Amino acid sequence: MSVSSVADVTAAVRKMYERNRQQGHAPWCDKDYDFVCPSSGTYPFQWLWDSCFHAIALTHIDVGRAMAEMRSLVANQSDDGLISHVTFWQREKYEEMLKTYGIAYRTPYLSDCMQPPLVAEAVSMIAARGGGAAFVREMVPPLKRFYDWLDRTRDPDRDGLIATLQADESGLDHASKYDAYLGVAAGTHAECDAGWRRNFDAYNAVGRVPEKMFALDKFICEDVLVNTIYVENLRVLAQLCRDVGDAAAATMYDERATRGARSLLEKCWDEEHGMFYDLAGHREEKLRTRSVSSLFPLLLPELPAKMVDRLVAAIEDPTDFGARYPVPSVSMREPSYVAGACDGTLVWRGPSWINTNWYVARGLRRHGADRLAQKIEDASVELTMSPEGFREYYNPQTGEGFGARDFSWSGLVVDMVAVR
Ligand code: GLC
Repeated sequence: MSVSSVADVTAAVRKMYERNRQQGHAPWCDKDYDFVCPSSGTYPFQWLWDSCFHAIALTHIDVGRAMAEMRSLVANQSDDGLISHVTFWQREKYEEMLKTYGIAYRTPYLSDCMQPPLVAEAVSMIAARGGGAAFVREMVPPLKRFYDWLDRTRDPDRDGLIATLQADESGLDHASKYDAYLGVAAGTHAECDAGWRRNFDAYNAVGRVPEKMFALDKFICEDVLVNTIYVENLRVLAQLCRDVGDAAAATMYDERATRGARSLLEKCWDEEHGMFYDLAGHREEKLRTRSVSSLFPLLLPELPAKMVDRLVAAIEDPTDFGARYPVPSVSMREPSYVAGACDGTLVWRGPSWINTNWYVARGLRRHGADRLAQKIEDASVELTMSPEGFREYYNPQTGEGFGARDFSWSGLVVDMVAVR
């Protein structure tokens, strides 16, 4: 990639982030906000994992805005430590749009739901790229509260893996890996909605108290993508704690990370398929669908070479994940794989996404598979800089874009090109 291309990518992301910037004052909490929304057309609010990706991209554009993005994200952290997966800062402007969302609420302005916890990584990257030590000192207390909440409320079996209690908590809303578990047969919108509804109704009936939600054993998923991100972030948080002189906390987070990583390797690896699979329910049954989640443990530095080799082979295999525009969110071998839009707006059932590409490429580089990582990064840049632009997701075979336009986390390509 030439220097001018880096400049082109940065300029394109900068423009999109101007268009998607949300700034103002929210009377409901009497706080100012300044963040990049996922897409002004369909997602005008602040989403947790989106916002972390936006902050990481912003480190290449304006570190001050990256810091503001994270400050807005933690501004309404609940007393128990949860950082809600959506903060509805400007809710009043979008009441009509909210009718189309299937979201569980804690308050009218905050969802009662987690999302993949990459807040520590975002803070650490901002700090390293100009945010500085004072920013770390400011952010460590809310980070500790959030990761302690995850440990306390989401890991009752104490295996170091946290559980999502509804499909959208993984960020992979309609992923086909959940189909059998949710009673979805044909992969239609109506079936997915009904599956989610059954889950929500059961939780509402027990007042959405986490212990009671676990006891129902309706939807408990120790998700490989979520937990790889969790383990990675516990390690990053441990380092941030060390940076601020909190050695005891650092040791504690490192221990949690080690336990989580061990469980991923011991419980989620499927030797027959050569893939990592999510564990469902109290019985921890594997959800055996080959999906992009299965590839995430590449981020673990301790991943044994034999497992690395099998995941790399799957990513390269043109009948599996080796598409022209990788990495498909579901293996092309799976009967549930759909290359393009699925029954209108179902997501994560086949198309390639830039945020998972960002993670998979980083994982590959950790194990020396630089060429394959570069292929994924180059394809990501090609997609976003093509006339399709920054779309929500792309057909892995043709590169056609789908979903929201001007989709902010697709701007992560700026990090892919700038870092290398
Ligand atoms: C979709 C995605 C989710 C994302 C949200 C906002 O629901 O599945 O991961 O956070 O949109 O972009």
